[in-house]
Amino acid sequence: MALKTTLPTSTIRHQVSRHSSPLGVLLLRFIYLMYYALLYPPYYIWNKRDFSAKTKKNPFYVSKLVRLVEKHPRLYELSMFVLNFPHPTAVYRFLPELKGKVLQVGCGTGLLNKHASKWNDVEFFNLDINETYLRYGEKKGRLRNCIHSGIYQVEMKDRSFDKIVFARCFHHIRHHKKAFKECARLLKAGGELWILDPVILEEQGSGKQMTAGYMANSSIDGVIWRFTKEAFVQHVQASLPEGLELVAVTENRQPHLTNYNLKYPQTDLLAIIRKRNEGEKQ
Ligand SMILES: C[S@@+](CC[C@H](N)C(=O)[O-])C[C@H]1O[C@@H](n2cnc3c(N)ncnc32)[C@H](O)[C@@H]1O
Repeated sequence: MALKTTLPTSTIRHQVSRHSSPLGVLLLRFIYLMYYALLYPPYYIWNKRDFSAKTKKNPFYVSKLVRLVEKHPRLYELSMFVLNFPHPTAVYRFLPELKGKVLQVGCGTGLLNKHASKWNDVEFFNLDINETYLRYGEKKGRLRNCIHSGIYQVEMKDRSFDKIVFARCFHHIRHHKKAFKECARLLKAGGELWILDPVILEEQGSGKQMTAGYMANSSIDGVIWRFTKEAFVQHVQASLPEGLELVAVTENRQPHLTNYNLKYPQTDLLAIIRKRNEGEKQ
């Protein structure tokens, strides 16, 4: 399936692998229905009413539920378990093994580090704005080298990293141009920036005809970006500074609950962005 983009596509590889049995998909959809049938009534009374009223005054109002999850890492891990059901770390299987000095942006509680515990040649530096998550990850023995900071300004020297990875956090970053500019500074020449993120399958009923992404305030996920594959590629290409180029985008629709939900069916993308060597032409 080729991605439509108005920008040069000659350097972009697209591979699509969909490997879910129809029975598995039915089962995931059934679990999704049960999940909402059980959780929606109490959730609605407690969170949704307050959220609907407050977002009228402040579109960036953060729901009670989102704030609760941000305070309690165990709740975050429970929601990751449910959303990635039946394999809580399945989403990271799509990520090739990382090597070298790697900055992990939005590391959360260190679920990727847990998955990567057998990778031998990688040294992670783990950055997040949520200090509670960082401390929890440290206590669990998953996170070392923690940096409590946002990605727009990181107190590390120029050209510090071989790779920078955004694992399931890119849609939470509000200002991508600023983030990419800082990544360009932090990456070594020839280094790579990997983005692993879910995007919406427009063709399966999101109802939005998207040429660009949009920001939504979700009562269960906070203020996030939503993209289709096409919108994601266009948005990334339009946000990259001089010296960074998108070289590959691959898609893998893995069988987990988030991807087969009923409202916004999704798929997982891995985008690879490379920092050009000095003097290298575009
Ligand atoms: C959905 S969680 C993903 C966590 C982790 N990567 C995982 O896969 O479990 C998104 C994370 O991004 C972090 N985050 C959001 N905005 C950020 C920013 N501007 N800079 C750094 N981290 C950010 C949040 O605090 C949160 O821990």
